[in-house]
Amino acid sequence: MSIRTVITFGTFDVFHVGHVRVLKRAAALGDRLVVGVSGDALNVAKKGRPPVFSQEERLEIVSSLAVVDGVFLEESLEQKRDYILEHEADVLVMGDDWAGKFDWVSDVCEVVYLARTPSVSTTGLIEHIAGLP
Ligand code: CTP
Repeated sequence: MSIRTVITFGTFDVFHVGHVRVLKRAAALGDRLVVGVSGDALNVAKKGRPPVFSQEERLEIVSSLAVVDGVFLEESLEQKRDYILEHEADVLVMGDDWAGKFDWVSDVCEVVYLARTPSVSTTGLIEHIAGLP
């Protein structure tokens, strides 16, 4: 019987419960979960600011989780298909903030969008902490 590999991507900065839940649900869709952690330069390019935690720290945090079998550095959003093929992924999981945006890789794997955990985000946490007295 072949192993079903799930792949997902994200920044996972200021790690929070929404991150844990999406990774647990992604892992439950297969036998093995591989996570592409987006690099610092990619975040600066896309969001205009560096993450709070460095890519090395974020890779260390995500790789420490029991549901995660492997991590790698995601250096370009456009290389999704290459990463999927390289890691022999059968399923791509993304949060539904990306709904429809990765249907273009459905020729190489199944694409599943999972509902986000409400009321928590890295941006919200940073704003909350910055506003504390
Ligand atoms: N995620 C989730 N529920 C949340 C927040 C994030 O399911 N409340 C998921 C995203 O959909 C994505 C993964 O966690 O699949 C990584 O998301 P990331 O962008 O790193 O986290 P955010 O908290 O959304 O960060 P930001 O506020 O900077 O966009």
